[in-house]
Amino acid sequence: MTPGARIQAAIEILDHIAGGVPAEKALIGWARQSRFAGSGDRAAVRDHVFQALRCWRSYACLGGGETGRARMLGALRAGEIDPDTLFTGVGHAPEPLSAAEREAGGVPTGADACDMPEWLLQKFRASLGDKAEATAQALRQRAPVMLRVNRRKGDRDTAIAALAGEDIICGAHPIADMALIVTHGARRLARSRAYLDGLVELQDGSSQAVMDDIDLPPAPRILDYCAGGGGKSLALAARSDAQISAHDVDPARMQDLPNRAARAGVDITVLDKLPAPGKALFDMVLCDVPCSGSGSWRRAPEAKWRLTPERLTDLTRLQSQIMAAAAEYVAPGGQLIYATCSVLSAENEDQIDAFLAASPGWVRRETHRFDVTDGGDGFFVAHLCRDG
Ligand SMILES: C[S@@+](CC[C@H](N)C(=O)[O-])C[C@H]1O[C@@H](n2cnc3c(N)ncnc32)[C@H](O)[C@@H]1O
Repeated sequence: MTPGARIQAAIEILDHIAGGVPAEKALIGWARQSRFAGSGDRAAVRDHVFQALRCWRSYACLGGGETGRARMLGALRAGEIDPDTLFTGVGHAPEPLSAAEREAGGVPTGADACDMPEWLLQKFRASLGDKAEATAQALRQRAPVMLRVNRRKGDRDTAIAALAGEDIICGAHPIADMALIVTHGARRLARSRAYLDGLVELQDGSSQAVMDDIDLPPAPRILDYCAGGGGKSLALAARSDAQISAHDVDPARMQDLPNRAARAGVDITVLDKLPAPGKALFDMVLCDVPCSGSGSWRRAPEAKWRLTPERLTDLTRLQSQIMAAAAEYVAPGGQLIYATCSVLSAENEDQIDAFLAASPGWVRRETHRFDVTDGGDGFFVAHLCRDG
């Protein structure tokens, strides 16, 4: 496909998304109907679509309209690319610009420039103070690909060398001890020896730092209460001799965990069902709760536009229920780790305050925010201790 044809494909997909079709579904639908598109074309179209989702409002403003065509015009203007070089009408490229399109468009300001719904920008300001705008701007950029080196299989230098041998170029990243940032060849990772042999795992740097920060007693019994794909369990297993049990309300989400653990050379017990509280106690229970994902909207930008105040309220209710239920599995003297990939106080500090107010016998040891502006996703973590 020509560069112009890729833009036209993105235009059509963005129109489907604006009509309510989830982005992944719209991309899959397009790929099925476009057998001529090679893997490079699919990746380029996906990149256009995801960048337009990150910059949904500013591109509309720059392009002078709410259509996929206006947004892609806005994208070119944002990148200072002359639209006439791509909107040529030749082959499958978009039709040339009309006189009205040439006139339309303006410079985004306020919430448009931050690419954020108005109500959310207010919540960002209340939660992040003078970091709100910088955080919103960081969320408009594509996230870097980050890896965690599995210390059971090697160190960062070993991993950098092994990956370089497969033309995947990485460098150490200061956010966490074992973090690497991939600067070239990321699309080859999933088929690389280093990945298949468990030397590296895909994991955001803040996610790694959150796990590195946890103080663990020797041979702790750990319950990962919201394990999902098991990324946090794997990170904990790599740095300790813990007995880790993974649980999720939706066990299907853990289906790859046994394979990932085998690849990493660690043991994780997947629990389809939890014993009744009181029948099993753990030294540490990790609650990486479902959240708005506001710290990870670089990767999942659609969520930024689909979140509503009502949905946020539902999420905070679910988070407090999960924390209360998970706390029952913490042994006296043990700790509850509460984490979100959100930057909103309602899902973070406010939750901890409410939990402590309702739970005698618990204390806050520390809380920590990780900022998107530091390179990784935005994260929050609280370490809570139960009286011994
Ligand atoms: C943020 S994700 C976890 C990501 C995972 N820790 C990782 O590092 O890959 C939140 C998970 O919580 C699970 N969940 C939602 N409600 C739950 C509940 N009531 N009890 C346990 N898990 C729940 C979801 O199915 C989802 O997999």
